[in-house]
Order: sequence, then structure tokens, then C-alpha cells
Amino acid sequence: NSSFQYILAEKKGRVGLVTLNRPKSLNALSDGLISEINSAVKLFQEDKDVGSIIITGSEKAFAAGADIKEMEKVTLPDAYNNDLLAQWHDLTKIRKPIIAAVNGYALGGGCELAMMCDIIIAGEKAVFGQPEIKLGTIPGCGGTQRLIRAIGKSKAMELVLTGNNLNAIEAEKAGLVSKVVPVEELLTEATKMAEKIASYSQLTVAMAKEAVNASYELTLQEGIRFERRMFHSTFGTHDQKEGMNAFVEKRTPTWHNK
Ligand code: CAA
Repeated sequence: NSSFQYILAEKKGRVGLVTLNRPKSLNALSDGLISEINSAVKLFQEDKDVGSIIITGSEKAFAAGADIKEMEKVTLPDAYNNDLLAQWHDLTKIRKPIIAAVNGYALGGGCELAMMCDIIIAGEKAVFGQPEIKLGTIPGCGGTQRLIRAIGKSKAMELVLTGNNLNAIEAEKAGLVSKVVPVEELLTEATKMAEKIASYSQLTVAMAKEAVNASYELTLQEGIRFERRMFHSTFGTHDQKEGMNAFVEKRTPTWHNK
């Protein structure tokens, strides 16, 4: 869509693709860039033909963090009054699955943006880190919270306190990314995964995403209960009947998203 200045947004079949496109600053996440990502994913959320979304960057950088040049002079009253970075979280309200396809640097806000997505796939040269400590600040968009859930306390502390990075293999081993692929195959692999997700009932996919994300917020008992109620809810859908009937009749199911 040509109305965007800092991103490219296009539909590839049933997959909505957002490509960050501020190459001169390694996709530094300015206010304008984040607004455009939010607008694009909202359009894909509303589009019935889109079943899943990919966010990617360039070979050199997924995103090298929040825009340091934009933040340098910000005062505490500015930050507080404008609730600096609050709008970033809009991404987590999108109910369709979002895959972050990461080549190159995913640092600071770039790593946080990737972690706000549902699945991270990395190219072999990807680099993840929270280097804010080197700038005299700390992660401001979930880095201290999501990283610990993804890779555990010791590794999360190391990244946040030293500013050390994880390479793609280390990130996979730590559980931050779901798979590592050759650099030039990143988008193809991410698209394959996104298409597979988009090929299922979109109603069931949304329920599955909601149930997995509930584990961030709930105790185990509450989470198990929430999951069971959602599981029960699927039995009120056409697509559960269709899916199980197709299995029994040894045929391919046709989903109606209802
Ligand atoms: N913000 C603004 N501009 C950035 C940027 C950022 N986060 N990262 C890179 N750039 C700009 C550079 O200033 C440079 O611009 P000029 O050509 O105008 O000088 C251009 O992108 C290319 O960068 P480099 O010359 O530095 O490229 P490199 O290959 O030598 O190094 C890098 C790459 C290691 C990623 C290095 O750019 C770097 O360390 N970037 C900053 C990473 C960082 O600290 N991120 C955290 C930001 S704070 C944050 O994100 C807070 C939060 O929690 C939300």
C-alpha cells in the first residue's frame, strides 16, 4: 500500500505481509513507523481474506531498536504525558497470528517488537539483544517482562544487564525463536508457516491464540480452566463438526470460519 512512508504492506494470498522500510536507520522504530505498523495490522485484522500476518525487516536489520535520535532529548514530563511507547502494545491486541521473520539486528525495541509477535523465525545471521543499558536506560516495551518468560531469568538478566546479544542459534536454543533458517530462505519459510496457519479455521486459530496467550496472565489452575472452557466452545462451532467429520470420513475438511 503506497500510503505508507516507513513500511510496505501487501497481501500475498491469505497472508498479510508488513516489511519495515527505513533502511537508512536500520528500521529504527520511530513513532511514525510504529503507527504505520499498527495501521497495517489493523487493516489485516479487518480483512476476512487474511488469515495470518508476517512482520519482517531487511537482511541487515529487523529493527535496531526504538529511534534513539527521536528519544535523545525527551524529558520525563514529555515521556509521562505522552505515555511514551504505550502505542506499541496495540500490536498485542491483534487477534490473528503474527509471525516475526527476523534477519539481522533485532535489538532493544526491535527484540521487543519481535517478542510481541506470536512466533519468531530467525535467519542464520539474526542477532537479538536488549542493549538499552549501554544508553543509560532500560527496555521500555516488554523486554524485562517477555524475555524472562521466553528464555528464563539468568539469560534474560544477562542480556538486560550486560547488553550482550544472542545469535540465531543461541536464541533458538534458549527458546526465543521457533526455528532458524538460511538467510535467503527466511521469508519463504515464514510464508509457508503463515499459509499453513491461514489454511485452518480462522475462528479456531483465534481461539487457540487467545488460549495460549492467556497463560501469560493466569495461574495454572485458572489457565487450565480457561483452556477447557475454550475447548468446550469449539464444540459450538461448525468447524469442529466439519473437522472431526472429515477425519472420520477420510476427506479434507472445508472450513467456514463459523
Ligand atoms: N535509532 C536511531 N538510529 C539508529 C538506530 C536507532 N536505534 N540504530 C541505528 N541507527 C542509525 C545510525 O545512527 C546510523 O545512522 P547515520 O548513518 O545517520 O549515522 C545508521 O542507522 C546505521 O547505523 P550504524 O552506522 O550504527 O550501523 P552499524 O552496522 O555500524 O551498527 C548496530 C549496527 C550495532 C545495530 C548499531 O547501529 C547500534 O548499536 N544501534 C543501536 C542499537 C540500540 O541501542 N537499540 C536500542 C534502542 S533503545 C530502545 O529500543 C528502547 C526500548 O526499549 C523501546
